[in-house]
Amino acid sequence: MCGIIGYAGHRPAVPVVVEGLRRLEYRGYDSAGVAFGWQGRLCVVRAKGKLAALEEKLAQEPMATATCAMGHTRWATHGIPAERNAHPHLSNDGTLALVHNGIIENYQEIRARLSAIGYSFHSETDTEVLVNLISYHRRGGQDILSAFATALREAHGAYAVCLMETASPEVIYAARMAAPLILGVGTGEHFVASDIPAFLPYTRQVIFLEDGELIRATPNSYKILRLEDLQPVTRQEQTIQWDIQAAQKGGYRHFMIKEIFEQPRVISDGLTGRIAPGKRAILLPELDGLPIPERLHIVACGTSYHSGLWGRHLLEHWAGVPVQVEIASEFRYRERLLLGKNDMVLVISQSGETADTLAALRRARQQGTTVLGLCNVVGSSIAREASAIIYTQAGPEISVASTKAMCSQMLMLSMMALYWAGRSARMNASACQKQIALLDDLPAMLEEALPSMHERARQLSRIYAQAASFFYLGRGHCFALALEGALKLKELSYIHAEGYSAGEMKHGPIALIDPDFPTFALALDDDLFPKVKSNIVEVQARQGKVIALTNPHVDLHVDDRWDIPSLPAPLSAFTALPALQLFSYEMADYLGKDVDQPRNLAKSVTVE
Ligand code: G6P
Repeated sequence: MCGIIGYAGHRPAVPVVVEGLRRLEYRGYDSAGVAFGWQGRLCVVRAKGKLAALEEKLAQEPMATATCAMGHTRWATHGIPAERNAHPHLSNDGTLALVHNGIIENYQEIRARLSAIGYSFHSETDTEVLVNLISYHRRGGQDILSAFATALREAHGAYAVCLMETASPEVIYAARMAAPLILGVGTGEHFVASDIPAFLPYTRQVIFLEDGELIRATPNSYKILRLEDLQPVTRQEQTIQWDIQAAQKGGYRHFMIKEIFEQPRVISDGLTGRIAPGKRAILLPELDGLPIPERLHIVACGTSYHSGLWGRHLLEHWAGVPVQVEIASEFRYRERLLLGKNDMVLVISQSGETADTLAALRRARQQGTTVLGLCNVVGSSIAREASAIIYTQAGPEISVASTKAMCSQMLMLSMMALYWAGRSARMNASACQKQIALLDDLPAMLEEALPSMHERARQLSRIYAQAASFFYLGRGHCFALALEGALKLKELSYIHAEGYSAGEMKHGPIALIDPDFPTFALALDDDLFPKVKSNIVEVQARQGKVIALTNPHVDLHVDDRWDIPSLPAPLSAFTALPALQLFSYEMADYLGKDVDQPRNLAKSVTVE
């Protein structure tokens, strides 16, 4: 977790770095800090809390002339959120400063070694240990690059780090191992950062660093070296097409609501170039060279896991591919992975950097299994390490709670199912055509429906905001949506919510129902509706209040009905999903919660 940025150029560096940190705050926001050269020394300013606290402190600092700086926004791993644990960390002699995203697993051992020869530590962090280890090698006579590389070779774990030294205040050094790091190449300026939006206002030219690489960048030059032996590496620059507007709020109050409303565009972008002429087949050239798997293992975390659970229904029903869906942190540590010769693993990740998902990918690849990645972030670790990659093309998702990324994952899963169904002839062209036409109509349908759905979510939030707990019930493909609805509510509004299979309620959870424990039921007009209706009646018989997300003309009597446009299952999920998102958004906003940056969370979880 955490976001880092370094800048060497011609502009006042601290404002550039602080602006970059703002775009990286989704990676963590319990403290932040910057370092810059000032009158022959390294000046470090840090503050606990959000970036605004750091900015207040910086207003007092003499930094106007620094043209090289680096910064950090933190999500605590070692040491509580406190100023002393905030980055940058200085070496004991004050000549080196370091920012770090990741975990140095053997830091206690190194700390003991350095303590024994007189080093002292003022934080509980692994980062302070690493900067002193570099300093130790520097004092032993190595030049800065060698000292940096030697220290990193001794460190075990994951890192993206950026380093500055008093002796060369116009230079930034950086390195990566199992954590994202991107070089931005500008004119007379260079950036290193954990993610592209950090420097997108200044350049679109990027180089994605590989594990075990180190950079030295000045305003006018950069070189990439192998950590192993400091030999130079040549890498191609790439041009990023992202629109800077896409990384801004665009008039909405929060990124989350903007991203919810972007979903019609996400669907139409995702479909572009994917539908064969005549709409009789889906084009997924990424899969053309791969056999249809005998069994598919979907592995993911959080919301991406819920997309996988939902996608299973389509992949099994349409394409006839048996699917298992597993949480990555469980999959990676299974004693035996029973992966067949013709099995495939599908890892789903918005960020492409989630540590557990990446580890699951590596474990499956070690066994020789084909791993397909479904990712949003181009050039991310998962995208680069998968055997094949399909991009979800949702654009940058800034709000910590994932919304449009799930929609884009569901779209791609639908297309994968249709693609395999067509290829294996399990579904004939006209059946495929029917589903493709539905997908194609989705953007316009959603565009029209979203404003009134937003209004209904607002009304319901006023009625239910005082509830302490919620059930979300669904069956079939709607079970995955029930889990996602509950996750959204708890992560944003901190209201306890449980997603449950509607049919499983009677095996225990129903004991919790009383007039103050409402249920949000997914009661869409599909084959399982009669079953869901019975489960709703069981809740009502215990005086439980019910909100039902349903369709017009459905015969259902509940406390609060929420009719959304009808669509055949399972694609009806594309209208149900934004309703769940909007309800959680409105609940959280009404309760005054920090919608885009909920407490204790981070968008990209690059630690276990
Ligand atoms: C974090 C985020 C979630 C996300 C999950 C998986 O917990 O807060 O929104 O669903 O990580 O992230 P990924 O990038 O792998 O989809």
